[in-house]
Amino acid sequence: MSKMQNSGSGSKSISGFSKLSKRGKIKWIVENFFRDPETVMHELTSYWHKNEDQQKLLDGFSENTITNFPMPFSVAPNLMINGKIYVAPMVIEESSVVAAASAGAKFWMDRGGIRAKILGTEKLGQIHFLWNGEEEFLRSNLHQIKVKMLLDAKEIISNMDKRGGGVRDFKLITNQTIPHYYQILVSFETCDSMGANFINSCLESFAQSLELFCSSNDVSLQSGYEVEILMSILSNYTPECLVRVELSCPISELGEFPEGMSAREFAERFYQAIQIAKFDTHRAVTHNKGIFNGIDAVVLATANDFRAVEACGHAYAARDGQYRSLSDCSLEGDQFLFFMEIPLALGTVGGLTALHPIAKRSLELLGNPTAQELMMIAASVGLVQNFSAIRSLVTTGIQQGHMKMHLTNILNQFQATEQQKSKAEEHFKTHKVSVQSVRQFLNSTQ
Ligand code: MEV
Repeated sequence: MSKMQNSGSGSKSISGFSKLSKRGKIKWIVENFFRDPETVMHELTSYWHKNEDQQKLLDGFSENTITNFPMPFSVAPNLMINGKIYVAPMVIEESSVVAAASAGAKFWMDRGGIRAKILGTEKLGQIHFLWNGEEEFLRSNLHQIKVKMLLDAKEIISNMDKRGGGVRDFKLITNQTIPHYYQILVSFETCDSMGANFINSCLESFAQSLELFCSSNDVSLQSGYEVEILMSILSNYTPECLVRVELSCPISELGEFPEGMSAREFAERFYQAIQIAKFDTHRAVTHNKGIFNGIDAVVLATANDFRAVEACGHAYAARDGQYRSLSDCSLEGDQFLFFMEIPLALGTVGGLTALHPIAKRSLELLGNPTAQELMMIAASVGLVQNFSAIRSLVTTGIQQGHMKMHLTNILNQFQATEQQKSKAEEHFKTHKVSVQSVRQFLNSTQ
């Protein structure tokens, strides 16, 4: 088969790919999926870190790595939380997000900043199992089972215990959807770590203890049944690992708005936008996506698990059965209040936080915060981000800001010179940005 026929088809299979050397992997990829293997090989390897040890470290974060995927690392200054000013690190590829976060942070710094409070730090894990015996047996022995679980897992727990964390509670959950199904829901305090490894290790040990307890001679004599463990895993739904952030100021201090819109009119339009996102799912998803534009960027910059954070946040947004806006707003008299309560299971020790070279710097930039402080920072970036987005939506519309940033990308795509760029920026203040219009403008100014 010729290379042309293969290129980009994606239909080739291979066994033992993971055993190939890194160069071998790239070679197979470029030769089978690209029209110009040599150029692509050169391009992919050009993103390798110049320091071999650093590259090995990055490769170790995943499997089958062939190169690195660069993303912009930005900062949003002037983020004032409980009187302290931070510079927030943000890793995001979408134009306007950092500009919106920075503008929102500055706007609110001038109005007293963000107030933030931790409402809880509880993390959860589950042991799912089948049990043919009486529910009553499990209920009446739960305390003894718990004692055995904790004793057997003593070594796993001891370090976390010393740091002030550990296992907090055990609950037996029943659900008749599956015959004989039970669950033990365990709650944990994991201090400054996100705690996934700790929780999973505990749960697997607890599951074994449960099996042993129920198959021990004494017990099987009493009950005659054994436990079948289905799975043991943390839950990324952590509604009690919660942070509250809020912004407020007199309506009259909300500033000036285009086309003669008064501060009161703005506040009312803003309030209505939030109300829509509270009952309309289509709007709520986009609204919350805007919040996660800010949160995810901080979560990524600090090498935390953005998939866990998103999954949890969206489930929380639907906690009463209807998917709603995560943020809320109230107007009382002359007072504008914008607030949000959001679950965020983050860590500042463990995982990749200290291993990833830039994540380590992100945390240093934030003054090496505790996990609770990082929860407040990420939620604050989400809230100011959301404020800026809604402010644009109910005044000028979002495209004005977006297109300005988009213009930079289009100009870079056309490899415009610095002189052409500044002329274009002037011209497009009053003209509509599109790929076509930028191309025409560049051709006419050559
Ligand atoms: C774009 O990434 C985010 C927004 O759509 C959020 C929103 O509509 O609230 C602007």
